[in-house]
Amino acid sequence: MTTLKEIISESENQTLEIGRQFASVLNPGDVVALIGDLGTGKTIFVKGIVAGLGFKPENVFSASFVLVQEYKAEIPVYHIDLYRLDYQEVVELDWDSYLDDEHIVLIEWAEKVRKFLEFDFKIHIEFKNKNRKITIWGARDVSIGH
Ligand SMILES: Nc1ncnc2c1ncn2[C@@H]1O[C@H](COP(=O)(O)OP(=O)(O)OP(=O)(O)O)[C@@H](O)[C@H]1O
Ligand SMILES: [Mg+2]
Repeated sequence: MTTLKEIISESENQTLEIGRQFASVLNPGDVVALIGDLGTGKTIFVKGIVAGLGFKPENVFSASFVLVQEYKAEIPVYHIDLYRLDYQEVVELDWDSYLDDEHIVLIEWAEKVRKFLEFDFKIHIEFKNKNRKITIWGARDVSIGH
């Protein structure tokens, strides 16, 4: 994977905007890992992606309460949150039904599946003082934003 972008986000809106710009490089079948501590902004980033795909971000929820959500965006999206699952439960999920050529798959707490899933993109979000440091890696080289 190569580093595509490193950026400090100073607000929720900025993270939304970075997610929105990132959406334009995604293709059906892509798997995106979102990795970062509690409350760093993974779900906000997902909202940005989904907004970039023409879907109302108000309909994107923290998926912690619902394991998998599907959004019928311009490219359909599966939003999966593995926070509450242990390794055994994660392995037992029906991955074959999510990983298809049609959907973009966005996975929060994706470090839990890195042993058996390959990612097209990896988003790391870290607390950096009051801000967030967002790093985007890609298995393919694309340019994001300006
Ligand atoms: N620069 C920023 N980027 C994103 N969110 C921010 C930023 N600054 C503050 N916030 C706030 O941090 C919170 C991030 O919440 P969010 O649900 O996206 O985190 P998360 O990483 O998905 O958490 P969880 O691990 O519980 O799923 C929001 O309340 C948001 O308003
Ligand atoms: Mg979340």
